[in-house]
Amino acid sequence: MFQKDPNSTAKASKTAKHISTPNPHFCFYGKGINLDKEPLIYIDGEYYPKSQAKISVFDHGLLYGDGVFEGIRAYKGVVFKLKEHIDRLYNSAKAIMLDIPLTKEEMINAVLETLRKNSMRDAYIRLIVTRGVGDLGLDPRKCRKPTVIIIADRITLYSGETREKGIKAMIVWVRRNPVDTASHEIKSLNYLNSILGKIEANIAGFDEAICLDKNGYVSEGVGENLFIVKNGKLITPPSSTGLLVGITREVIMKLAEKLGYMVVERNVTPADLFTADEAFFTGTAAEITPITEINKRIIGVGKPGPVTRNLMDAFEKILGDPAEGIPIYA
Ligand SMILES: Cc1ncc(COP(=O)(O)O)c(C=O)c1O
Repeated sequence: MFQKDPNSTAKASKTAKHISTPNPHFCFYGKGINLDKEPLIYIDGEYYPKSQAKISVFDHGLLYGDGVFEGIRAYKGVVFKLKEHIDRLYNSAKAIMLDIPLTKEEMINAVLETLRKNSMRDAYIRLIVTRGVGDLGLDPRKCRKPTVIIIADRITLYSGETREKGIKAMIVWVRRNPVDTASHEIKSLNYLNSILGKIEANIAGFDEAICLDKNGYVSEGVGENLFIVKNGKLITPPSSTGLLVGITREVIMKLAEKLGYMVVERNVTPADLFTADEAFFTGTAAEITPITEINKRIIGVGKPGPVTRNLMDAFEKILGDPAEGIPIYA
């Protein structure tokens, strides 16, 4: 298997082997595109330069949001919590009765190989499995084969300066889908609920949205879990509020306990938020993002607090540790 550490001095070959065997769903080769410079995207076992990485308009992932996905990060040559992300992907797929055509081990290797093909050590990876190509009806039985896509890219949600100061969040009118609907408990391609929340925060001039559940309890951000700190204790809402049980959330809960903080999973009200000593979001993309204002109420002293900072430091220390993930170039 091709394994090349981008830190080595020899030049990586970026020739895509598939160029003579195009994606069967795709029929346009653009002119003047430097294929050697483009990131390579995995689609169904083949690698395509970004400009040629296309799927059919009949894919039910596009037509109906019928599919599942994961956002994963690699730090310093280690894919953080890759096994946990793969387990969650397969659980999401199981919940929507989608048979992923790869074993978990094959999927892990495909993720690692995509990073190697792109000579990446630090990346944001988007792993998507759609129901596949069907007809214009929504019956999933018409889709014969799921489409598997792996993109290795980078993402920065907030600048270092914004994160240093803390962000301004807003409780929005969009309620988290309850658990007896297509809620975020399943990490599916249906993110309109989150996007509506994000739009509300955007138009009101806030950095991020906070969604309540149907009973008025705090659930989570649009793509992040939420913690508050009260009297030195960490409090985070339970999954019964329709949130995604975040992998970063679990990591933070364990780190907090190791640091000696008590962690409680319980219903959080908007008033709890307004009167918290500290608040922060967690997520693969957001990492740990302090929140210093919620609906114009200053949280604590209006700066990232000591508990948040301790957790950010502890989190930073485990990134790139092979014990916390899977090395790309082992
Ligand atoms: C709705 C939602 N909640 C929470 C999270 C945070 O989860 P994780 O820490 O696993 O990235 C995400 C991101 O995947 C998300 O989309």
